[in-house]
Amino acid sequence: MKEYFKVDEWKIIEEGFDPHYNKVAESVFSLGNGRMGQRANFEEAYSGETLQGNYVAGVYYPDKTRVGWWKNGYPEYFAKVLNATNWIGVDVWLGNEQLDLAKCEVLSFRRELNMKDGYLQRNFRAKTASGKEVDVEAIRFCSMVDDEAGAIKYTITPLNFEGEISLTPFIDGDIVNKDANYDEKFWDEVSKAIDTDNGYVQLRTKKTGFEVATAMKFTVEQEGKPVEIISNPIQKEKYIAAEVKLQAKQGQSITLTKYAVNVSSQNYPAAELVTRSADVLAIISAKGFDTMLAEQAAAWAKKWEHNDIIIEGDAAAQQGIRFNIFQLNQTYTGEDDRLNIGPKGFTGEKYGGSTYWDTEAYCVTFYLATAEQKVARNLLLYRYKQLGKAIDNAKLLGFKDGAALYPMVTMDGTECHNEWEITFEEIHRNGAIAYAIFNYVRYTGDEAYLTDYGLEVLIAISRFWAQRITWSDGRQQYVMLGVTGPNEYENNVNNNWYTSTIAVWCLKYTIEAIGKVKEANQPKYNDLVAKISFREEQECEKFADIIGKMYFAHDDKLGIFLQQDGYLDKEQILVKDLPATEQPLVKKWSWDRILRSVYIKQADVLQGLYFFEDNYDLDTIRRNYDFYEPRTVHESSLSPCVHAILAARLGDIERAYQFYLRTSRLDIDDYNNDTEDGCHITSMAGTWMSVVEGFGGMRVKDGMLSFNPLLPHQWKAFSFQVGFRGALLKVKVSGDGVLIKNLSAADHKLKVYGNEVFVKANNQLIVNAK
Ligand code: BGC
Repeated sequence: MKEYFKVDEWKIIEEGFDPHYNKVAESVFSLGNGRMGQRANFEEAYSGETLQGNYVAGVYYPDKTRVGWWKNGYPEYFAKVLNATNWIGVDVWLGNEQLDLAKCEVLSFRRELNMKDGYLQRNFRAKTASGKEVDVEAIRFCSMVDDEAGAIKYTITPLNFEGEISLTPFIDGDIVNKDANYDEKFWDEVSKAIDTDNGYVQLRTKKTGFEVATAMKFTVEQEGKPVEIISNPIQKEKYIAAEVKLQAKQGQSITLTKYAVNVSSQNYPAAELVTRSADVLAIISAKGFDTMLAEQAAAWAKKWEHNDIIIEGDAAAQQGIRFNIFQLNQTYTGEDDRLNIGPKGFTGEKYGGSTYWDTEAYCVTFYLATAEQKVARNLLLYRYKQLGKAIDNAKLLGFKDGAALYPMVTMDGTECHNEWEITFEEIHRNGAIAYAIFNYVRYTGDEAYLTDYGLEVLIAISRFWAQRITWSDGRQQYVMLGVTGPNEYENNVNNNWYTSTIAVWCLKYTIEAIGKVKEANQPKYNDLVAKISFREEQECEKFADIIGKMYFAHDDKLGIFLQQDGYLDKEQILVKDLPATEQPLVKKWSWDRILRSVYIKQADVLQGLYFFEDNYDLDTIRRNYDFYEPRTVHESSLSPCVHAILAARLGDIERAYQFYLRTSRLDIDDYNNDTEDGCHITSMAGTWMSVVEGFGGMRVKDGMLSFNPLLPHQWKAFSFQVGFRGALLKVKVSGDGVLIKNLSAADHKLKVYGNEVFVKANNQLIVNAK
């Protein structure tokens, strides 16, 4: 853990420049607006260590798989969201010296992410080799209002010289993905043009044929007065630029304002992209930078009004949660059901920007409570639309009769992952997709979703489970062989408790959903039965048989569920007895050693206890928590949040608080030494859950919200808002009790500490703290 950034409730601040930390800072200061996003690369040239990153949502490329030893069933491609055209670039020359912080003396440096208003600001003073000193201020943002646009204001002031300064704003599409499997470039040029103060580059992705036009327009001011632009146009392959030479005077600032637009053929015909980009450029440049920035602040104010979590008395905790909420909102806005949430969002290449089980297991709950219902619904529909491919995927692996195995990693429904222990064995992801349907219906009450979409997915997944289990003659029970649970530090295990538990739960829920749909709409049910050739009696009988006769690994002496068969054979050395120098295991140990060890990468049994806590008494949860937590290394970002929620459930407020800090400051403090690859966006939804479900104790039961709040002693108070079935509630927990404000126009019934309370429309009440 590092304390590199300054603690501030609304900002992330870097003071002083540490080139070794630059890639981490580039991730943390990333910007996005749901449609496009980028790492915090510098506008001017930088020859030091950097990971360039610009991304356009939904624009991907199927990179041919590269594996050491091919296994039958591996997908041929790994689809990745592409590193796209760099639109932020402004080359700066001071006479014959290029401004490059890797080659200058950095006299002062400050980078600031303003989360309240949604922009990034960088100020520095630099001295070149020949002794020229300049001050630079760069402010930029990806607009939440014009979500195909971004803007930059770049101001440079010569401090101890006068003479020529040249500024060259450019658009550079000659970009490579660092993670390209065969060092190929994924983009071809379609067309480009450059004029005095504007230009564009249009590119097409190889194979997938997506086209993206990136256009810019700029203005220049000297000493606050507009300069008539006389520029020298430059063109190279996939690159355009306009060089502007100015005579600079000591102490007089020059400001270049660059407007940029990214439009993609996902949304317009390819032939119209140039016109469309010019239209958007005209709109935003007419507004001007300051108006755009004011609109940006207003758009964020609106988001914060509904999304903010306020923690009083603990600035580090406050900064952590705001950073997580900020990044989630920058990544996915829910406007477009073709898009999803990559584990790194727009902050890096790792995980290819693809969809993982993270969406269903972690993100759906956040969007259910903080966004309109259609947002979570869009996430569910994304999977519904990919059901056909999930059935094809299962067929490829030998399953039949409409059984579906959703991919572990996907862009368009096709499996992209290619490590056998995950691709073929980490089948628990199917369960999370079913769980998200349950979670959505439980939260929203939208039972019609089951009839229209949900049940079809549930039956297909249940058919998979019914074929994936094996009847064991010896046990006279069903077993689940050869799986990898959420704990990826164990592969090819038998009877992973979590996988078997979610499989059986899924079969039960499917039977329940069949009953509901039949009752709600028999004709639609009949249509579905015909569409998917469902043999209700026979198939449900099989489901019920499995439910009744499934084997679950457990240890009666310890009173715990076993993560898998044989887990207790391992040498039981706890994490506290593992030297810190040997962690993270994934970087320090050979893989076979990790597999043989007792160490758990992320919540596994505990993930199941979190999902299905109502099925277990508190002692059972406690025994399992006390057993597994000391063996968990949390080397997946998805782990601490589940532990925070369970610790809070067990009343262990101190442990809950420590896990909360770890999840919320994971990237700010680079806990896992991997933030340089990008931020852990999907786990950020888990951070939100650790406040709302952990400390707030929020649950949904019988169509009603209930709260069981606890206040960490480090906090004076905390508050959050949740939307629920048309109501908007603000919950504030402090030493004075639990304040519930009903911000909506209808009365609302809920439970606090197990007791029903009734809050009138636009009214509030206080319940004494526990
Ligand atoms: C975790 C997976 C997760 C993936 C993407 C891995 O490290 O083990 O559970 O889906 O990261 O976040």
